[in-house]
Order: sequence, then C-alpha cells, then structure tokens
Amino acid sequence: MRQLFEETFVNDKPIKAVFSAKRRKSLEYNKVTIRPVMAGGEIRYQAEYTYDKKVTHNNIAQADIVEFCMELMNDFKQVNIFTNAEDIQILASKVDKPHISRKKASLSCQNFVHNRTKQYVIPDGVPCDFLIRLGVMDKAGKVIPKHYSKFRQINRYLEIVEDVFPYLPNKGNKPLKIIDFGCGKAYLTFAIYHYLKVLKGRNVEIIGLDLKKDVIEFCNKVAEDLGYNELKFLMGDIADYTSDNADMVVTLHACDTATDYALMNAVAWGTQVILSVPCCQHELFNQIKNDVHQPMLKHGILKDRLTEYLTDGLRGLKLESKGYSVAMIEFTSLEHTARNIMIKAVKRRSADSELCKKAQKQYEELRDFYQVRPTIDKL
Ligand SMILES: C[S@@+](CC[C@H](N)C(=O)[O-])C[C@H]1O[C@@H](n2cnc3c(N)ncnc32)[C@H](O)[C@@H]1O
Repeated sequence: MRQLFEETFVNDKPIKAVFSAKRRKSLEYNKVTIRPVMAGGEIRYQAEYTYDKKVTHNNIAQADIVEFCMELMNDFKQVNIFTNAEDIQILASKVDKPHISRKKASLSCQNFVHNRTKQYVIPDGVPCDFLIRLGVMDKAGKVIPKHYSKFRQINRYLEIVEDVFPYLPNKGNKPLKIIDFGCGKAYLTFAIYHYLKVLKGRNVEIIGLDLKKDVIEFCNKVAEDLGYNELKFLMGDIADYTSDNADMVVTLHACDTATDYALMNAVAWGTQVILSVPCCQHELFNQIKNDVHQPMLKHGILKDRLTEYLTDGLRGLKLESKGYSVAMIEFTSLEHTARNIMIKAVKRRSADSELCKKAQKQYEELRDFYQVRPTIDKL
C-alpha cells in the first residue's frame, strides 16, 4: 500500500483520495477527503474531515502525505483514489491484506494541471539573469523565439525539481549538495541553482561535471559573471568521480552507460533524489537474445526501441532494489526530443527489505529473460 501511495502521490498527483468505511464506530469523523492544492507555488494536500455535523480541514506537506495516508489506513477500510489516469480502489478489511482494483479514470482535473503548466516557474517576460546570460532571454526578459523549446524544457525540469523539493534534506543551514553529471552547457545546472538558491533561498553547493574542457571553462566563467558562487564546474569522467556525495544527482542525456556510473554513485552515496534522463542506450543492442522475440528483433528499429526500454526498465528495477521509489515520467513531449523519459527516483524513508528483494528478483528475471549483462549489473 505504501508503494501505491508513493506512486500516486509522488508521481501522479491524485485529483482526490477518499478514505471511508471506518474501522471502529467510536472514530469521530466518518471520512477523510484529500485534495492537492497550490500554496505559495508549492503543492500541498488538504485533508477534509467529515463529521456528522461539521467539516474541518488540515494541510499536509507533500513530504508527509504518504505517512499520513498510511496512518489513515488504521482508521478506514476503504480508499478511492481518483487520478487523471485511473481510478484506484483499495479495500482492506485487514490493514495488511488490501485488495486493490483499478479502472478507467472517471474524473479529470483540467484546471489544476492547466494552471501548473501555464504558470512557468521562470516566467516569460520577467528578466532572469542566467537565461539572459545564456542567450535564452533578451535583457527585457522576453524569451527569444528560437530558444522557446529550451525555455520550456528548463521550466519543465524545474517543475519536476519542485515536485521532489520536499524530499531533499532540510537540516538547519546545511547546504544542499547537488551534482549534475554530464552537464554540457549547463542550462539546467544554472536553472537548479537559480531555483534553489535564488527562488527558494536554500544554501547550496552545486557541481556540474563534464568531459569537455572548453565547456567547463565557459560554465565557470558564466557562474562567476553571475555571482553564482556556490556553483562550480569540474572537468572529469563520471566513471572516475567517486570522491564526493550528493543529496540530489541529476543527469540529462548522459550518453549510454555514463548514466549507469552516475546512478551507481548516487546509490553508493545514499542520495535522496535522482533525476536522470538517459540517452543513446546502445549497450544491450548486441546482447539481447530471446527466442520468442527473435522474429520481432530481426527489425533493427524495433530492437533499438526495445533496447532503450529494457535498459531503463532494468535501471529502474535496480534502483528499486536499492530502496528507491521509482517513476518513469515524460520529461518533454515527444515533439521536442525522442529522448524524453526521465527516471525519477526518491529514496524511501525506511528501507523495506521485502520490496527491495522483490525488485531484485524481478530485475534478475528480466535480465535473464533477454540474456543481457548491463553495466548497472556489473557496477
Ligand atoms: C548530450 S550532452 C547533454 C548536456 C546537458 N546535460 C544538456 O542536456 O544540455 C551530453 C554531455 O555529457 C558529457 N559526457 C558524456 N559522457 C561523459 C562522461 N563519461 N563523463 C562526463 N561527462 C560526460 C558530454 O561531454 C556532453 O557534454
């Protein structure tokens, strides 16, 4: 059940969730309805308690919502969750033996989704220093038309960072450590700095790592010009970068197995949040073997796509087996780039060894079914 709540509340954002059928008569309220609300640019949840003759409300931070739902399961036997994708019903006469059923979505919530996507984290028309410096905006803050898709991509990325923000550590003034592996020209590294440091006022230490010397020199110069003092760029290979740690690891289009090295570092450090958009997943292309699928795999293009999904599917399972809650989400729409699947992984608050074992078993079955040995396996 925890996993289902994590998946639904962290990834899908329910339109509403209704807890009903109370376990004991003495419980004062009859049902609890949870809805997402936007407050101060952040998603929170409002819990509405329905009593016989009154209704009360309570706000819950995104970071606490899964625990809150788990607690409510001690009070109620039934939960109905409505998302844009599906309706989910949980019937649990016994807390540890839930029956879960799913059907087509009966509700849709255009307004909530609409408002979120329209109100960009960094709006068009308001001057933003790093976007001006990188040539995405003019000095008046207007986005330059040919860079509009980059502007949208940056905002989409920040929406995702906004979603995972509550999962990042927040202990005193301790800086949040973030590493962007394969940062390239670092639009997103600058964007993350801007979001966390400038908009959220958090102490940060952000590193962008890339193989290319000229790119690193360029990025360090831009950071210096902007006074982004806690943002540094280093030249190096992800595979050799083992000497640090991070609260969040990001990779955007780190080619082929470079993504695996980044994931491996993140897991080894116990990184809270991983956002990774892989690309060029070629490694398994010449390894995949499966008699049943062979007639399909003889078509290069199908084999190529399957390789891509298999690589990322295995990466997702491996992360689950290491205690992460994983979602594959669309990063940008396919019209902008085919490389648009993001692995979004958030470390579970408490390791559930059964879930980890199950994911590891599924990982091994899938790997063996296609007779592959991916880099993530060796690492
Ligand atoms: C497609 S670019 C993406 C750049 C940037 N993340 C973005 O999305 O705009 C991939 C970048 O990863 C870097 N890269 C690839 N393999 C790497 C490795 N093993 N170590 C460090 N950087 C790597 C490349 O130099 C390149 O700049």
